[in-house]
Amino acid sequence: MSEKGANPIDTEPITLTRFILAEQKKHPSATGDFSQLINFIQTAVKAVSSAVRKAGIHKIFGMSGTENVSGDDQKKLDVLANDLFINMLKSSFLTCLLVSEENDHAIVVEPEKRGKYIVTFDPLDGSSNIDCLVSIGSIFAIYRKKDDGPATEKDCLQSGRELVGAGYALYGSATMIVLSIGNGVNGFMLDPSIGEFILTEPDIKVKPRGKIYSINEGYEQFWDKATVEYVQSKKRPKTGKPYGARYIGSMVADVHRTLVYGGIFMYPATSEAPKGKLRMLYESIPMAFIVEQAGGLAVTGTQNILDIVPQSIHERCPVFMGSKEDVQDVIELYKKHGL
Ligand code: AHG
Ligand code: MN
Ligand code: MN
Repeated sequence: MSEKGANPIDTEPITLTRFILAEQKKHPSATGDFSQLINFIQTAVKAVSSAVRKAGIHKIFGMSGTENVSGDDQKKLDVLANDLFINMLKSSFLTCLLVSEENDHAIVVEPEKRGKYIVTFDPLDGSSNIDCLVSIGSIFAIYRKKDDGPATEKDCLQSGRELVGAGYALYGSATMIVLSIGNGVNGFMLDPSIGEFILTEPDIKVKPRGKIYSINEGYEQFWDKATVEYVQSKKRPKTGKPYGARYIGSMVADVHRTLVYGGIFMYPATSEAPKGKLRMLYESIPMAFIVEQAGGLAVTGTQNILDIVPQSIHERCPVFMGSKEDVQDVIELYKKHGL
């Protein structure tokens, strides 16, 4: 047996904290604030992961108003995840504005705790999958406040090109954080025995073309012509084999699979919802950033998602993201149909 193989325990693991610190050291002017912020987000993710794993036992799934054994009101898992993110981010002293899927308005951090970062997040993505134990996730994006003035909702309306970093946590068969700070994408698996995220998927790249399409096909009658033709071309190709279909219904899990196996994830506009369903600031933009950083492409059909400046904090946009060539096929069909 080789010396290396004799002991399965890595005595020099690259933890997420170590990775971020090494990145920070590459920029001598860095204050360390960003590294700290990632640490607070890591802690929120660990706490959410732990809650997700125990949710069934404590009966805190997706049901509201359930009572625990002491007769106290129990919080729904997505409300609990939201509270964890908000409290962790406020107590970092590094944020000034928080935008959450669960809050109608941006949360302005108390002046005494104020810092320079804006964090947008979906604390629990895939809520319809909570009660049946299918993978769910959290999504986050980090921006800088551009001036020293009072923090207002307008400060959050920045395009994805201005992101400082973004990532997601997937609570799947294991818990993983996938993160980009603008120089590629790295995946860190939670080792529950030491409570640390370990770099297990360095420099994630998405294949130029995949073999899987992912969309909620139940809404086909509401799709535009480009989407209809695209999906048809994958199911009944003129030459070659058809693509396989996969749809989990949790964006984090569907996009993670797309990164790992290749292919395309779609949540298009429908006649019922002309801007689709997914929210720009804490779903479409951070996931588009990760996909682009992994060498893929993310568009609305006609525009690159990262180029759009949202007009309101909960604005939606149609989404096609994944392998570059697969997404380019969609863009061509949008052009062909004059959409
Ligand atoms: P959330 O649970 O945060 O509200 O988001 C659910 C989203 C996303 O995760 C998923 O891609 C999509 O909703 C699924 O929607 P459909 O059920 O309409 O397919
Ligand atoms: Mn979501
Ligand atoms: Mn959500």
